[in-house]
Amino acid sequence: MRMVDLIAKKRDGFALTREEIAFMIDQYTNDQIPDYQMSAMAMALYFQDMTKEERIYLTQAMVASGDEIDLSEIEGIKVDKHSTGGVGDTTTLVLAPLVAAVGVPVAKMSGRGLGHTGGTLDKLEAIDGFQVEIDGKTFNELVNKNKVAVIGQSGNLTPADKKLYALRDVTGTVNSIPLIASSIMSKKIASGANAIVLDVKTGSGAFMKDLTGAKDLAQAMVEIGNGAGRRTMAVISDMSQPLGYAVGNALEVKEAIATLKGEGPSDLTELCLVLGSHMVYLAQKADTIEQAREKLVAVIKNGQAIEKFKTFIASQGGDSSIIDQPEKLPSARYQTAVKARESGYISEITAEEIGAAASMLGAGRMTKDSEIDLAVGVVLTKKVGDYIEAGDTIAVVHSNQTEIKEVLAKVEQAYQIQVEEVTSAPLIHAVISE
Ligand code: URA
Ligand code: CA
Repeated sequence: MRMVDLIAKKRDGFALTREEIAFMIDQYTNDQIPDYQMSAMAMALYFQDMTKEERIYLTQAMVASGDEIDLSEIEGIKVDKHSTGGVGDTTTLVLAPLVAAVGVPVAKMSGRGLGHTGGTLDKLEAIDGFQVEIDGKTFNELVNKNKVAVIGQSGNLTPADKKLYALRDVTGTVNSIPLIASSIMSKKIASGANAIVLDVKTGSGAFMKDLTGAKDLAQAMVEIGNGAGRRTMAVISDMSQPLGYAVGNALEVKEAIATLKGEGPSDLTELCLVLGSHMVYLAQKADTIEQAREKLVAVIKNGQAIEKFKTFIASQGGDSSIIDQPEKLPSARYQTAVKARESGYISEITAEEIGAAASMLGAGRMTKDSEIDLAVGVVLTKKVGDYIEAGDTIAVVHSNQTEIKEVLAKVEQAYQIQVEEVTSAPLIHAVISE
């Protein structure tokens, strides 16, 4: 088999076979196919697309390029959740204890990575003593005992995706549905979950700006997951503003605590109930999505959800007294209000701008080695649909430095204000299950 023939075949619009795709990915991972040939292939794929079968083969080949996590020691159907990038996405922190409280095993592997705020690992490390560097055996035991544990990423997962993504980044081929879908799904499948719930964001702050694109991406990922033997469902959710109020690490832990107590922001609560009920359903802990939702609402009401968060924190060495005393979490030295410059209705809060503001404060990593400030971030006080008068506080910036003019300007710019009343977009646009 020669790569040049495969490139020409795809260029001319033909489908590649399972063997051809496996060859290409294996040889590329092992440096036997040069970047220039893979670049040409990526561009051919970008223009010619891939069939459903090709997408499944590509995903499976990328999974096979590295280690696969074995979760077979953990009892039950392991369900993972993936979000296509929100800003201040607190859902994982809420969902892990929430679905564990109704008996779904949550074996969460989480990385640090770059971003506006830290990853789930960083957020948990805002809790004094919390240990993410646990060994595999302890991890399995904790999930069996408590139904929830989080471990730092280890091993060599999907090296083919790492290499291909870096190449796509510099060859104008990131924005291709088959390539995005296989990239995301290969990582989820290699992480060992039996079933997967996807939260695909749409709107100004999302990867997929319009609903059609988000639906296509969701459909592609659901087909890949189901085709690879992992039951997969996707929820398409709105990103015309950040979810909840808090964007920042410790700030989001506080918001997660409030949400698990039933006192959280309504949009964050609703999205967690929707995603959570799909997780519970796929884990076969409920017969219908509606029944799953009732179970989740019940554990929030009766305190089992917040109790589960407490157990989870304590079992990984963390100070669980923060549940009753969230003020013990790291807090920033300064709090500065951002005021509205004009009166009107809020039509949009660009999540990327709020994320960038949090990042400038030090909430996220700019490079792999930068240190995160767990205390800082932005807390919105007004959301889409709210009416504001000029001079009203729209957000509060939590900082450890006083030079924050640029940050304040960024937050202010994120708010779009209009004269007419705003009918806000629905939080959930669609659910795709096959
Ligand atoms: N996120 C991924 O993991 N891969 C892509 O290709 C795009 C976004
Ligand atoms: Ca949030």
